[in-house]
Amino acid sequence: MIKTQLHDDVLEVVIDNPPVNALGARVRQGLWAAIADAQTDTAVKAIVIRGAGKLLSGGADITEFGKTTAEPGLPELVDAIEASAKPVVAAIHGIALGGGLEVALGCHYRIATANTKLGLPEVTLGLLPGAGGTQRLPRVIGVEAALDMIVSGSPISGKRAADIGLVDRLAEEGTLLAEAISFARALDAPRRTGDVSVSADPAIFEAFAAQNARKIAGLDAPSACIKAVRAASELPIGQGLEKERALFAELVAGTQSKALRHVFFAERAAAKIDGMPKDIAMRSIDKVGVIGAGTMGGGISMNFLSAGIPVTIVEMAQEALDRGVSTIRKNYEATAAKGRLTADQVEKAMSLLTPSLAFDALADCDLVIEAVYENMDVKKDIFARLDGTAKPGAMLASNTSYLSVDEIATATKRPQDVLGLHFFSPANIMKLVEVVRGAETAPEVLATGMDLARRIGKAPVVSGVCYGFIGNRMLTPRLDGAIEMLVEGATPDQVDQVSVALGMPMGPLQMIDLAGVDIGWHRDPTRIESVRDALNAAGRWGQKTGGGFYDYDEKRRPSASAAAQAIVEQFRTEAGIAPREITDEEIVARTLYAIVNEGAKILEEGIAQRASDIDVVWLNGYGWPRHTGGPMFWAEQVGLEKVVDTLNRYRDRLGPGFSLSPLLAQCAAQGGSLFGDAGA
Ligand code: 3HC
Repeated sequence: MIKTQLHDDVLEVVIDNPPVNALGARVRQGLWAAIADAQTDTAVKAIVIRGAGKLLSGGADITEFGKTTAEPGLPELVDAIEASAKPVVAAIHGIALGGGLEVALGCHYRIATANTKLGLPEVTLGLLPGAGGTQRLPRVIGVEAALDMIVSGSPISGKRAADIGLVDRLAEEGTLLAEAISFARALDAPRRTGDVSVSADPAIFEAFAAQNARKIAGLDAPSACIKAVRAASELPIGQGLEKERALFAELVAGTQSKALRHVFFAERAAAKIDGMPKDIAMRSIDKVGVIGAGTMGGGISMNFLSAGIPVTIVEMAQEALDRGVSTIRKNYEATAAKGRLTADQVEKAMSLLTPSLAFDALADCDLVIEAVYENMDVKKDIFARLDGTAKPGAMLASNTSYLSVDEIATATKRPQDVLGLHFFSPANIMKLVEVVRGAETAPEVLATGMDLARRIGKAPVVSGVCYGFIGNRMLTPRLDGAIEMLVEGATPDQVDQVSVALGMPMGPLQMIDLAGVDIGWHRDPTRIESVRDALNAAGRWGQKTGGGFYDYDEKRRPSASAAAQAIVEQFRTEAGIAPREITDEEIVARTLYAIVNEGAKILEEGIAQRASDIDVVWLNGYGWPRHTGGPMFWAEQVGLEKVVDTLNRYRDRLGPGFSLSPLLAQCAAQGGSLFGDAGA
């Protein structure tokens, strides 16, 4: 775990704990011993600390949080490094995150490669840097720069770190160690960050909190980070460190951090396919075809273009093709206008795009994704044609949101090559991709689909075949419940507020307005069978027409709509329903617990591999708030017994199609967990 080597009078200390050199108990003990021994070893004049493999360190061992672990703790270790009577230099390459950077801050000097990533991402785990980072970083780079790094959690490059004084020198990776050793040898004495004091106008902290109010609302960690950095500017280091530790202890025991740590591991677990051999040979995907240049087809194409993978996009009519290509360009140019892409990058991406009206242009693609509208006959027709066009071994994917990938696969003679790649709109932005495994999908096709989705920066989750897959199947009872409650007497605002209070960016009715009330509409204004039909018939298709369940102003801000209310009331009267008072508890049951119930069914049917995958779907595709961990984790925090009891009490209101998930009922009755023995 810790290796040492003496280079004449400089001791090299190497942290070697693959894969990320996490600072678990044994690493801390080893480092502690190495530093202590060096103090009494007269042969040692100075010390260099570095990481083995690709990085210095990914930080504290996250699996240890919430458990009692062996001494020394990371804060004590960093204090001991700083207290060393002999100069200590951190030689940083690859990554120094969280506790990894805090160790480097305890060192007296820092030397790094230009492309190293240095950061304090603890806030993304619902924590603050708890090993002195909030006290030492402001002392090194100033309060404002430290606030930015600590509250955003975003890393900076070694080059930038050198510019702002976080590292003393830059070096090439090949000579980093040698330079660190000669740098250390030339040092006369330690330079301790703790000896420095830093002051700041208290107004900075209030201004910073106000500027970031929207981003940090409802979250415990960012405000604790601000308090801790403020302490650095007001207290001597010893008291500041005490304050930091007290704030850290509160956060680590809190539900938000527990949830965010769950999310960290859930997102990594989602990448794993149960039963898949690790060394499975992937298919190589160097060229992608996309059928359909509409909103979805265009958005899907952008992911590949941005990742440097050429795309052939096929449409039936020139006008639709031109419109699709110009929308892609406009989207890229809008990003460039915000400074997030250069003009060259835009041109590079566009140069990888080949628009075509000819289906045959797909013949040399390694993967073809169909992104036309939701109609089984149309999709089967396309897959039958693809069967005659695509080269042998090409993967054939459908972007269907609801339809059976197995039925689509029957249109080909190669069902083993068929899978679903369900992107979410806007497909160039939303991270979720459901990778749908059909009954016949070959293992390497599924593995390649997952790998490719990660290559283009997505958060892929494996789903089995069922109507709506994981996400949309769970969405259905939520949206149905929301609309039914309007008819029964609730207002849109009342329904939506329950979700917003949980931390979602919007409630279910606002979401329908955003996506389009007319999605899936039969387009016959005389056939009115639902409130949605009635809104559509009145031209209230959502935000895009200025109104749906709400009215929208030119900035797309919602307000209560008298017109929508009148439509709902008319529908209510015609259905012979007397309005009644609807409680928040009922809204929770019908728009949130109903999702959990459907999720539990998805789990027991084996559609999702694990409960945490369901959480990843809702976190990355539906705006579920990360600090509550996802619907399944959240349900366990609420208590499964309470969830089941409430669902049972509202059973009559949950519609004729409702049935309680046996798995959920069983876990609730026996104190079990949807996450298996380990619990959430
Ligand atoms: N503790 C425990 N396990 C960790 C870990 C950590 N800090 N960081 C990564 N791992 C594990 C992952 O769970 C994964 O395990 P698996 O293979 O069993 O799924 C494995 O290491 C590899 O991780 P990634 O797949 O994420 O590897 P990448 O190469 O893609 O990314 C990384 C490397 C950028 C270091 C990324 O893992 C990362 O961001 N890690 C977390 C960084 C972080 O948040 N550090 C702060 C920790 S909190 C802290 O330090 C508190 C202190 O202030 C007191």
